[in-house]
Formats: sequence, structure tokens, C-alpha cells
Amino acid sequence: MSDSGIEQAPPGVDPTVPSPARIYDYILGGTANYAADRAVAEGLRQAMPDMVDTAWANRGFLQRSVKWLAEHGIRQFVDIGAGLPTGNNTHDAAHAVAPDARILYADNDPLVEIHATALLEGVPGTAVLTADFRDPETLLEHAKTRTMIDFAQPVALLLVTVPHFVPDEDDPWGLVQQYMSRLVPGSYLVLSSVTTDRRVDDTINDIKGLFTSSSAGGVHPRSRAEIERFFIGLEIVPPYQGAPSELCYFGEWGAEDPEAADSEGSRWGYCAVARKPG
Ligand SMILES: C[S@@+](CC[C@H](N)C(=O)[O-])C[C@H]1O[C@@H](n2cnc3c(N)ncnc32)[C@H](O)[C@@H]1O
Repeated sequence: MSDSGIEQAPPGVDPTVPSPARIYDYILGGTANYAADRAVAEGLRQAMPDMVDTAWANRGFLQRSVKWLAEHGIRQFVDIGAGLPTGNNTHDAAHAVAPDARILYADNDPLVEIHATALLEGVPGTAVLTADFRDPETLLEHAKTRTMIDFAQPVALLLVTVPHFVPDEDDPWGLVQQYMSRLVPGSYLVLSSVTTDRRVDDTINDIKGLFTSSSAGGVHPRSRAEIERFFIGLEIVPPYQGAPSELCYFGEWGAEDPEAADSEGSRWGYCAVARKPG
């Protein structure tokens, strides 16, 4: 989307307020972004020169974990904070293994629904809606959700680089528990979040400053212990062969060679896949 496209921003989309979805789109090389988004992304590049590596390490986690889940029999995916469409989306990864898999995409940025609706036209087993993670009732009771997802069967709930857009005051841990309480045993949580570990305060403050003017209102990187709390009551899957059942850095999850997959960019966040027992 060029700057001249600002005037053509769809109804409900304010191109002057940077949005996490569009900032991320720019970092991944997409074109669904505006000057305000690119300015934040370029500021981020200054603060974290590895940002492109970080974003792709996280995308790799999403793609490998969805493939793994499909290979382990999961046929339903609820991808909250799905972001603007890029290559090898959740439905691509799932359908490559299980063409009958059903994927519900949700995001609170209305541009996501507009772009994804066009992309998903004619793709069976997919739906997209505009909804906020912080409002589980509306998201789970939405007609598209009820049509697409059978809550009597296992579901994979995806919250991939989303929790850090939710402040402590909104209790993201309690929200994750609310969602998981609605899913049957054998369901999974797939979650990644940006961390403050191993980083200097100045860098963290620069990054936080860049997001204050965004539609998210801020960003909330967390410690490993805080991110681990999302998985309380769940069984974490070993992230790669021979690994303990613990969180790992983005790039390591499902890696054939975890040492080679380890990079400075990848260490900007922790992730895990965990099963609801019972
Ligand atoms: C960094 S992108 C991640 C996209 C994708 N999940 C991935 O990891 O590749 C974060 C996404 O979360 C969305 N988001 C942030 N807060 C949200 C909320 N409260 N409810 C729904 N979506 C949210 C943003 O609009 C953005 O699309």
C-alpha cells in the first residue's frame, strides 16, 4: 500500500495510527502498511537490528507447530491475533497435512479481516472475523466461530506473538485460562511472546516508547517466568527431539538442528506448545 493509498484506507482503518498487524506486515516484507506503520518499524530496526530475524523465527515456530499438531491429529485451529496474511499461513501449514482441517482466524485489526477475506475466498475450512482476544465471549460465541469450530472436539488455540500486546491489568493469564477452560482435554495452547530477558533496559524502553502511539496502546515484553505462567495446568510438549518439556526460544521449536536455529533474533521471545490433560 503506497502513501498515496492512505486516502483509500478502507472504512474503519485509520492509517495515521500505527497498528501492530501492519508494523509486523512491513517487517515481514508485506505491502499492507502505511507510512505511520513503517516509521515505527524503522524505529524498531534501530532498537533491535535483528527484528527481521525475530519475526521470521516466530513465523517458523507458528508453521512448524501447526504442522506438528496436524500430524498429531488436530483438525481445528483458532488463531487469535492472526495478523495480515503472509506466506504459509496457519491454514496452509495445516492443510498440507490435513486438507480437512478447519481454521478460524481472528484479529482486532479490521484490515486483517478485509485482506484475509479476499485471500481465503474459495479456501474450504477457513473463516476470519474481527474480534478482540480480551473478549472471549464475543469471539467464541460469534456465528462464524460456532459454524467453523466443534467445541466437543480438540482445538488448538494459537496466540502467537499476541500476549505482549495485552497489559497485566487486562490479566492475559486469566484470559488464556478462560479460553482453555472452554476446550476439551486433548486440546492445545500454542503461544509465543516477546521477552525482556537478556536485554538492556534502554532498548526495552525504546521499544515500549515506539508502541505507545500504536493502536495497541503499548507493548509488554515479559520475563520467562511470566510467560511460563500462561501454561499453568497444561503439559508442555518437548520443543525438539531430546529437549526437556520447557519453553524455548522462537527458532528452536521443532528445529532439526536447534543449535543452528539459535540466533540473537530468535532470543527475543519464548514459545511453547502445551496439551490440556485429561
Ligand atoms: C506480531 S502480530 C502476530 C501475527 C501472527 N500471530 C504471527 O505470529 O505471525 C500480532 C497480531 O496480534 C493482533 N492483536 C494484538 N492485540 C490483539 C487483541 N487484543 N485481540 C486480537 N488481536 C490482537 C495484532 O493486530 C497483530 O495482527
